[in-house]
Amino acid sequence: MTKDYVIGQNNSLPWKIKAEMQHFTNLTKHHTVLMGRKTFESIGSPLKERHNVVLTRNQQWAEKNKIKYPQLEITKNWKETVSKFFNKDEQLFIIGGKEIFYQTYCFADKLYISMIKENYPGNVKLDLFSQMIKNFELVEKNEFLHFTVEIYQKKPFKN
Ligand SMILES: NC(=O)c1ccc[n+]([C@@H]2O[C@H](COP(=O)([O-])OP(=O)(O)OC[C@H]3O[C@@H](n4cnc5c(N)ncnc54)[C@H](OP(=O)(O)O)[C@@H]3O)[C@@H](O)[C@H]2O)c1
Repeated sequence: MTKDYVIGQNNSLPWKIKAEMQHFTNLTKHHTVLMGRKTFESIGSPLKERHNVVLTRNQQWAEKNKIKYPQLEITKNWKETVSKFFNKDEQLFIIGGKEIFYQTYCFADKLYISMIKENYPGNVKLDLFSQMIKNFELVEKNEFLHFTVEIYQKKPFKN
């Protein structure tokens, strides 16, 4: 995400930063990744060495892509997917896009945010980001040449 909250441009990533892509791969490899149908289409095929789950309400799209990519899990119910990982050691990575982030962030234990240093134009913005991190605290910051990885941890619940 840029400082202006940009995460996407015309259904693709606005930037091409090899080290950031490598960071994303290292983080998610051998885990399950959950994404919206638009993010899946922007990637173009299932991410290698990960169990890919795609969220759609479109039954026709689901049937067509299940045939094309038999290894793909397609669901219309993200709560079902998320609940399988509650109180488990195995991690689920919710990888976007905006629609999915907004619906699911409050169920996350951690947020891994790559803050991109340069500005890029974009038509998909996480403009509610400051609201998203309200119940999280910044616990780690790792500096790279073109981006900074910020890790937020869910604050303990107080009543
Ligand atoms: N910078 C980053 O880290 C990052 C990460 C991911 C994506 N992106 C970018 O973000 C953009 C895409 O984000 P987006 O918000 O437009 O789309 P998205 O979240 O990737 O996908 C939205 C689609 O997901 C499905 N969906 C959403 N909520 C659902 C629900 N509750 N139940 C069932 N299906 C549901 C719908 O698919 P149907 O219409 O098929 O029903 C909806 O059209 C792209 O530009 C992409 O490159 C950036």
